[in-house]
Amino acid sequence: METRPLIFDCDPGQDDAISLMMALSPPRDGQAALDIRAITVTAGNTTLNKCQRNARMIAQICAQNGGSKNIPIFAGCASPLHYPLATAEEVHGIEGLDGIEIFEPDVPLQDEHAVDAIIRLCRELDEVVLVPTGPLTNIATALTRAPDIASKISELVLMGGARREAGNITPSAEFNIYVDPHAAEIVFNANIPKTVFSLDVTHIALIQDSHVNRIEALQTPLSGILTKMLRSGYAEYDRAKFGTSGTPIHDACTAAYLFRPELFDFRKVSVQVETQSPISRGHTSVDFWGMTDRQKDTHWAIDVDQAEFFDLMIKCISAYAKT
Ligand code: BDR
Ligand code: CA
Repeated sequence: METRPLIFDCDPGQDDAISLMMALSPPRDGQAALDIRAITVTAGNTTLNKCQRNARMIAQICAQNGGSKNIPIFAGCASPLHYPLATAEEVHGIEGLDGIEIFEPDVPLQDEHAVDAIIRLCRELDEVVLVPTGPLTNIATALTRAPDIASKISELVLMGGARREAGNITPSAEFNIYVDPHAAEIVFNANIPKTVFSLDVTHIALIQDSHVNRIEALQTPLSGILTKMLRSGYAEYDRAKFGTSGTPIHDACTAAYLFRPELFDFRKVSVQVETQSPISRGHTSVDFWGMTDRQKDTHWAIDVDQAEFFDLMIKCISAYAKT
């Protein structure tokens, strides 16, 4: 299990929210909780304002049910570096979270900008792991403004991109990379070890009705909330689009990796990002076969133990308070 300090950078979003529910889950099996120092928010699945409220809602729900408390939440970039913001309310619902009652949380939003917080925390800590599950605008802006922080980031654990699975927002691009390809280019070119969960693996970890029934059967306040989220329009969207029997919970792969990296198989690759082409904007060109001299600084997840992945997710959820 990961013990290094972590910063989650996200755009909740159903699957970001589920990833946070796993990551903020109470200690279990004699293991400590993850050491999360900040949740930073970017625009992506919906506007920055809704994403930051959603992050605070999820943090509050988790804390009230025995999960990690008092993790500071920072709002970051409201739009990508060069393109106008593209959002995904058709997937995640008009509020960015579907199947859940929306409320104004008491958990405060910090005054500091997320980019400043990332830079400050990287400088304060000996090392940090960044866990982005949205467009990479905050991370790229921090790296551009403060290149010295790269040496403090011991690993970037991110959800984004596609090779075998091609795309989910265009025929050749995954959403997070498509929304801000210029930011992704900066991040993939940075001299930082990367671990990437692309559509290639998130399309293997498909949640089935049987898993949702197991979550419902936990009969806790948090499992009730999650069950409703997992039976919302989000569940249907990708099943209808890709003709699958289950739904990808993309971003939860990052949380699962932090708890149990051995659930995944990886290939060492280098990655380049297409920023300009109107046809293939956001495409990740993955050097899978060693065709270039580029440094293979990326662990690209190629497979996951689906049964163990969902057992882990259900274990994390079952650790929350019973009443
Ligand atoms: C990614 O796009 C977003 O809609 C999800 O939250 C996930 O991060 C999947 O392509
Ligand atoms: Ca996301």
